[in-house]
Amino acid sequence: MTGNAGKFADVVKHFFLLEVLDMKISMDPNTVFYDAFGGNYWTEITKAWQESSNSFSTARDFIDKANGTNMVNSVYYQLVSKIPIGHYRKDRLDYYWGSTKFAYELSKLRNVNTKLIYNSLEPDEVNSAQVLAIPDGAKIDYRVNDSFDVEDEYVIEMQNSNSGLLFFDPFFGGKRNQKEENYRACAEMLIKLKDSLNQYTNWSFIIWYPIRNKKENLKIQTHHDYARRNMNADIYILCDTKYGGHSERDINGVAMLVVNPPIGLTKRITDVEYEELSRIYKMNKSKPEFVVF
Ligand SMILES: C[S@@+](CC[C@H](N)C(=O)[O-])C[C@H]1O[C@@H](n2cnc3c(N)ncnc32)[C@H](O)[C@@H]1O
Repeated sequence: MTGNAGKFADVVKHFFLLEVLDMKISMDPNTVFYDAFGGNYWTEITKAWQESSNSFSTARDFIDKANGTNMVNSVYYQLVSKIPIGHYRKDRLDYYWGSTKFAYELSKLRNVNTKLIYNSLEPDEVNSAQVLAIPDGAKIDYRVNDSFDVEDEYVIEMQNSNSGLLFFDPFFGGKRNQKEENYRACAEMLIKLKDSLNQYTNWSFIIWYPIRNKKENLKIQTHHDYARRNMNADIYILCDTKYGGHSERDINGVAMLVVNPPIGLTKRITDVEYEELSRIYKMNKSKPEFVVF
């Protein structure tokens, strides 16, 4: 778990993801959610975890230091509480949810048959996701793949299911080479999937990018230019102008590149996400800025 858990970039990511998935589910209840970088399924939020991961600092002023886990006023809690089924008590948030867990809860809430595919490169993460999903009875297809390497699998899913969402959520962090490698691999995946995404237009592909500085922004722009020229694609950028980060490595903006966005996504994101995020971020005296290219 990185220091971004529960912070701005994470909240916006999950918020956006749920809006897109919800739109797709309402159009086709058998939509597939392919979480290529599944990560943590859910993690118990202890005071020690919170401190060691430097997480939830968007809600710094509201964290109950004495109890450690009482996140009821945190921005993250506001997000989770949009989905009223889950493993938290009324006045406490005890678990941090990952993207597959969010998708699972959303499909339960909507009472639909979303096929969930959880993938990670790390067998340990896959094992722990399997164990954690069992008490809840979540039916998930688990895979252990290098997501940058299995474009054939994505195409098979596209051929077999009428509607789906492929979600790419790499770290874009760590050592410089690893970061550059992630950018390069995402750009290549756009090229590899171009024809299939143009053929299976009910399949959407989202790539999440962090924005820390202008250089990163330019890199994302080249991916976006390629996607826009060759496919039906939009990019959504949300920056938190007041957050500013606490160090160079803090992420204060995110970009979501969406190939084959559901019709009406821009309006929904503008009307719902921006309004809602502005409302919940008021608690943090923050003013997010939102841009659609
Ligand atoms: C940013 S985290 C994902 C967080 C998760 N999607 C969420 O929203 O909670 C990235 C995850 O991808 C895994 N990962 C890293 N490189 C990968 C690769 N090449 N293929 C598949 N998984 C990878 C990591 O182990 C890590 O858990």
